[in-house]
Amino acid sequence: MSFMSSSMPVRPSGARTARLSTGLTGRLRAAADKSISHRSLIFSAMAEGESRIEGLLESDDVLATAGAVAQLGASVTRDEDGAWRVCGAEWRTPAGRLDLGNSGTGVRLLMGAAARFDLDAVFTGDASLSSRPMARVLNPLAEMGVRSEAADGGRLPARLFGTRRLTAIDYTPPVASAQVKSAVLLAGLGAEGTTIVREPRLTRAHTETMGPLYGAQFHVEREGSGSVVRVTGGAALKAHDLSVPGDPSSAAFLVAAALITPNSDVVIEGVMANPARSGLYETLADMGADIELKPAGNRAGETLVDIHVKSGALKGVEVPPDRAPSMIDEYPILSVIAANAEGRTTMLGLEELRAKESDRLAASANLLAANGVSLTLGDDHLIVDGCGAGGVPGGGMVETFHDHRLAMSGLVMGLASKAPVTVDDVAMIATSYPTFFDDMARLGAVIGE
Ligand code: S3P
Repeated sequence: MSFMSSSMPVRPSGARTARLSTGLTGRLRAAADKSISHRSLIFSAMAEGESRIEGLLESDDVLATAGAVAQLGASVTRDEDGAWRVCGAEWRTPAGRLDLGNSGTGVRLLMGAAARFDLDAVFTGDASLSSRPMARVLNPLAEMGVRSEAADGGRLPARLFGTRRLTAIDYTPPVASAQVKSAVLLAGLGAEGTTIVREPRLTRAHTETMGPLYGAQFHVEREGSGSVVRVTGGAALKAHDLSVPGDPSSAAFLVAAALITPNSDVVIEGVMANPARSGLYETLADMGADIELKPAGNRAGETLVDIHVKSGALKGVEVPPDRAPSMIDEYPILSVIAANAEGRTTMLGLEELRAKESDRLAASANLLAANGVSLTLGDDHLIVDGCGAGGVPGGGMVETFHDHRLAMSGLVMGLASKAPVTVDDVAMIATSYPTFFDDMARLGAVIGE
């Protein structure tokens, strides 16, 4: 099922080249948050009544989740004005396979949410998603009583047999992952008793924040540097209207572009300021970045800020391992910023990056090396020797490994490098940030064929 409409932005593909730019300026509204968009569709699709979602991120990943919940029984429509309406339903066995494309969040959260319905569903995805680990979700679901069959190594395609008889569990995920936490909590909505997830290190808490808006009973306690989340099964979910806040992970590309492109002065409006997503912004403060955050209200239970960023000199820093969960998607773009800083930046505790849309640790190192930046790559760390402002040689061809964040990072790097930087394919950018090229062009970035 496809929800692509002619009023959505065109999705460029093929190679693109970014060239030395100067003076990025302007005010932009941040692209909508991907994590919130997936969750709003999933909760709405399970809730009784019609929910209206304003400002949904219309990226390929989110559209795949919209298609999947429609196959599972929800009614999903998009109004002329771009708002989405979702009528929830008791989920049922879908007619075909549920193809989540490139989306780890979509597939893992949907497996958890589908677990409590009486259904039999096969989940598939593209080559990248099919190589990513699903046992991290299927194992706790099995403890709750869900049968599943997955391809070798716990990969997709995976068939999941949902059940109305789920057992509540007390679970400590072995990896810091909001997707795993969320999958268990969503299944816990249908379990008898209280399901508990204990996370030693805090990950984004969007499921716990949004659930209560729909009537779910979550109870969250901070414990040390982590949290304990309890969900009581059996609560009836009710429709809720919400407006999606801006995505700090997408905004990071604009922030980076403004920081490293000389004479830049940019404001990005309405960015979600969630403490479990703010690691990059803490790191940039340590690096001496000229960034000002101004409160900008609330949306969907989340706090928003306007980000005012100006270019300027940056210094290398050490990024501690315990910061990784709060900036897990930001390391490729931080590597680019680090390459433009004075001195050495050491990023630690990065083993999870190897399980992302690509092996993001190796791919980030390749991006830098292809453009003349010195680095040291370890199993779980990356050390970048900064070239200083305007010092990156550039001139490289960046292999993106079909990873949206690598493609955007490569293009941002080219805006401040001595020689142009080319990325091999930009098609995957539409999975998370379909308006990336429009936003960059509005700021004055020179990116072309
Ligand atoms: C996400 C969680 C993170 C993140 C992803 C979105 C979410 O994944 O990388 O882009 O919305 O829950 P992990 O939970 O695998 O770290």
